[in-house]
Amino acid sequence: MAVINIEEAKSNISRVGFLDIEIDPTMDLFHEIERLKKEKNAIILAHYYQEPDIQDVADYIGDSLGLAQQAEKTTADIIVFAGVHFMAETAKILNPSKKVLLPDLKAGCSLADSAPADLFSAFKRQHPNHIVISYINCSADIKALSDIICTSSNAEKIIESLPADQPIIFAPDKNLGAYLNKKTGRNMVLWNGACMVHEIFSLEKITKLKIRHPNAKLIAHPECEAPLLRIADFIGSTTQLLKYSQQDSGNEFIVATETGILHQMQKASPGKIFIPAPPDNSCACNDCPHMKLNTLEKLYLCMEYETPEITMEESLRLAAKKPIDRMLEISRAAGLVG
Ligand code: 13P
Ligand code: SF4
Repeated sequence: MAVINIEEAKSNISRVGFLDIEIDPTMDLFHEIERLKKEKNAIILAHYYQEPDIQDVADYIGDSLGLAQQAEKTTADIIVFAGVHFMAETAKILNPSKKVLLPDLKAGCSLADSAPADLFSAFKRQHPNHIVISYINCSADIKALSDIICTSSNAEKIIESLPADQPIIFAPDKNLGAYLNKKTGRNMVLWNGACMVHEIFSLEKITKLKIRHPNAKLIAHPECEAPLLRIADFIGSTTQLLKYSQQDSGNEFIVATETGILHQMQKASPGKIFIPAPPDNSCACNDCPHMKLNTLEKLYLCMEYETPEITMEESLRLAAKKPIDRMLEISRAAGLVG
C-alpha cells in the first residue's frame, strides 16, 4: 500500500524493501531519470536481466564481470545499481566513498541465499588446505571467507591461474562448479547451491522445441543443469551469449537463461529469432523474481530521494574486497572484459 509521507515511507524501507510512495502516473520517468543523472552525477549500471525500460535508461548494461569492472572505474558520485543485492554490494565494496543505491533492497538471489556464512565456515573447516573460489553471486560475508571471486565470464581463467594440484572449494553454484570441473579437468569440492531460474528449464519441452525449430541453436548459461548443458550448442555468460547470437551465422536461437537478455539480443540482431527456453512450470515464464523486483518507478524514487542505500561495516568491506581485487587483477592480466 503506497504512502504519501516521505518520512513514513523511509521508515518502511526495512520492511518493504523500497520507497513506497505514490508518484504522478503522467510523469515522464525517462526524462526525470535523465535529469537526476545529470544533477547528481549519478550512473545507472544495469544487469541484462532487468526489465527493458530499465535497460533502456541505463548508462551501462552488462554481465556480473562487466558491472564490477564498471563499478571499479566510474567517477560518478552515485552508483544506482539496477540489479540484485550482491551486485550493488560488490559496487559498494569497491567504492566506499560513493553512495550506492539499489531500487529495491529485497532484490536478493536464491544462489547467494543458498550459502549462509556460518554453514559455509564449517564447510571450509572440513576442507583444510583448500583455496576457496566463490562465484560473485554470494554475500559479502561469503566473499570475506573466500580467496578469489569469479564470474561466469572469467571462472575458467581464474581456476587455471592456480596450480593443477591445488585443492579448491567452489561455491555456491554446484551446476557452474560441475561444468567447470568438466571443462578444466579439476575435481573441485562443490557447495550445494543453485539458481532457481536456471534450474527450472524443461529438457523435455526444449527437446520438442528443437524438433519444431530444427535450425535453432540452443544457447545456455552455465548455471543450467548438466543434462541441458550437454545438448547446448553454446555455453557462456550473458555477455558471451549475447555476442555469440550476434556473431553466429544462425538465425534462430533457443535461449536458456533469464528472459531479460532477449531485449539486447533482439536489439543487436533485429532480423534474428530468439525463443526463451521453456521452463518446467505452468506459468511458462523464466523471469528472475528477484531481478524483476526493480521497476522504473522504484529506480526514479531511489534516485530522487537517494535511498535505499547499501552500507557495510568497514572490516567486512576490506575482507570482502581482497578476493574481488584478485579477480579483477587476473581478469585484467588475461584481457577479459564482461
Ligand atoms: P552473468 O551476469 O555472469 O552472466 O550471471 C548471470 C546471473 O545469474 C546473474 O545473477
Ligand atoms: Fe540469482 Fe539466479 Fe536471479 Fe541471477 S537469475 S540473481 S543467480 S536467482
